[in-house]
Amino acid sequence: MGDKLIIAIDGRSSCGKSTFARAIAARMNYIYIDSGAMYRAVTLACMENKLLHGGIMNEQALPQLLEYVRISFRKRPGSAETGTFLNGVNVEQKIRSIDIASNVSLVSKSAMVRKKMVALQREVGNNKGIVMDGRDIGTVVFPDADIKIFLTAETDIRAHRRHKELVEKGYKVSLEKIRDNITGRDRIDETREESPLKKAPDAIILDNSFMTPQDQMIWFEDLLAKINTT
Ligand code: DC
Repeated sequence: MGDKLIIAIDGRSSCGKSTFARAIAARMNYIYIDSGAMYRAVTLACMENKLLHGGIMNEQALPQLLEYVRISFRKRPGSAETGTFLNGVNVEQKIRSIDIASNVSLVSKSAMVRKKMVALQREVGNNKGIVMDGRDIGTVVFPDADIKIFLTAETDIRAHRRHKELVEKGYKVSLEKIRDNITGRDRIDETREESPLKKAPDAIILDNSFMTPQDQMIWFEDLLAKINTT
């Protein structure tokens, strides 16, 4: 396989998709696209424009909002990492908050939102040489992706990892709340009508519950070697 590839990584919330996807992108010298950040940015726009009330979204106001929402990924000054921008403003920090995490599944189950995000994801990924992570990348966004990985990890392990990450970033939040958020998001993501989270038939499952990031890369190198010899 000499050509550049499209690599899709899907899985439940907080199972380390972005860490893995970033490492693969760095290894392959590819672009990494965090599709979840796009849904988080739209959620922030919905919250700032008061489209969410008591767990219900104002669908009527959505077309106007989506019309003006512009999402992009840009390099952060002095860093190789990219940040998420909403209408020209860096929202990378804001979209990682528990407030956004609590509302994002509500926003991302909207067909209108998904239609716009999927189009944007296909646009940014239309040149090969990308790694994209999310919930429907291997099933809907890039059903012809060259490599599809379905990442899983035990719920408690996911909750501990996310809790540690947020605490390190300075957010004050209990493990209990994180666990509830993760299981709640899994339920909504897996049962929604529009492109629910599910493993693509041709995706390879990787349970990383007891793996370090280094173990995952060894697994990936093995996979690449297998692909290159078939
Ligand atoms: O990967 P993440 O936790 O940052 O994603 C945030 C939310 O966005 C997640 O709860 C479900 C939604 N999402 C989605 O519906 N489809 C995607 N391709 C990516 C994320």
